[in-house]
Parts: sequence; structure tokens; C-alpha cells
Amino acid sequence: MGKIGIFFGTDTGTTRLVAKKIYKQLGDDLAAKPKNINRASPEELMGYDALILGTPSYGVGDLPGTAVGCMEPNWADFAPQLDGYDFSGKKVALFGLGHQERYASRFASSLIKLYQLFYGYGADIIGRWSIDGYEFEHSDAIMDGQFVGLVIDHRGQSFLTDERIETWLSQVKPLLLCQAEAA
Ligand SMILES: Cc1cc2nc3c(=O)[nH]c(=O)nc-3n(C[C@H](O)[C@H](O)[C@H](O)COP(=O)(O)O)c2cc1C
Repeated sequence: MGKIGIFFGTDTGTTRLVAKKIYKQLGDDLAAKPKNINRASPEELMGYDALILGTPSYGVGDLPGTAVGCMEPNWADFAPQLDGYDFSGKKVALFGLGHQERYASRFASSLIKLYQLFYGYGADIIGRWSIDGYEFEHSDAIMDGQFVGLVIDHRGQSFLTDERIETWLSQVKPLLLCQAEAA
């Protein structure tokens, strides 16, 4: 059975922390060790039929990367390498970090860019998440009234992080596993 691949971008380590929590909750049998996207290749991603991808929010709803002031290369620096790859048939669940109080007008907005990137390369994106329990003015990451992936505010609501991951994984895990098993 193929494992679920977990990749993340990060600048100050919080998205890595959340990726590790996701990995821990899934367990080593089901998931591969999370890897920073700035050390990964498109071939590595293509090696999985089920993926969990995470991003922090930086810039004005941009894909985070050095161009928007990140100290480390991130998704925006990786994205051009995807040119020519086809993610059709792959199930992809997304998670995004943000800070709702400080960035209320663009909460977790970078998540929509990650969605658009992989949707554009043919991935079947799963794992929408309710906007209930957050307080913000606007987020680009909402489609049809739901976030396009799990949203974690580990600065403002760290007490909810583990529970949110657990609930979200209970929804996406069967879909991801069924994909990984079929591989
Ligand atoms: C310069 C800067 C810009 C940010 N912009 C946003 C933003 O637009 N929207 C948002 O929800 N959070 C924003 N944040 C909060 C980060 O996304 C959040 O703290 C995240 O957990 C950082 O993840 P990382 O530690 O993996 O880099 C910003 C933080 C900084 C320092």
C-alpha cells in the first residue's frame, strides 16, 4: 500500500509543526515523514497517489516565497518546477495557516493559491473545512461557504489545533487511503 505524502512550506516553523502533528496522528504506517517543499522535487510528489500539502499565509494572499519577503524558499519558489507535470488521478488534501486577529482582512488567504496551483495541474482536491469557530473579515480561501482545506490559527487558537487536525483527518483519511491503496 502506498503511503500518504506530506509536504509543507514554512518560514518560522509553525506549518512544519502542524505537518508533524498530522504525520503523528496518521502514524508511520500510513504517512511518509513530512518534507519541506524547498527540499523536495516534483518527482517526489508524483511518487504519491495521495498527498497532504500545507502552507502558511504571507503576502497579500500570495503563494508564500522569497518574492513576498519570506526568508526561506517556499511554495512560490517551487511552483515553476511543476510545469509539465500532471496530477490527474491524485487526491490532494490541503491545510493552511494564518493569524485571524492580526490578518483579519486576508485570513489564511494563501491557501487558495495552493488550491489553484494543484487544481490547475489536475489534482482532485478534497478536505473542505467549515469556517465556523473563526473570527475574521475576509479570506480568499473560501469556496461555496467553506475553506478549501483545513485552516489552523496556531497563534490565536493553538488550543484547538490538535482537535481540528483530528476531526479533519477523520474526514480526509478514508478518501486518501482509498486512493493510496488503489495504487
Ligand atoms: C509578514 C507576515 C505576513 C503575514 N501575512 C498573513 C496573512 O496575510 N494572512 C494570515 O492569515 N496570516 C498571515 N501571517 C501569519 C502567518 O501565516 C502565521 O503566523 C503562520 O502560522 C506562519 O507559519 P510558518 O511559521 O510556517 O511560517 C503573516 C505573518 C507575517 C510575519
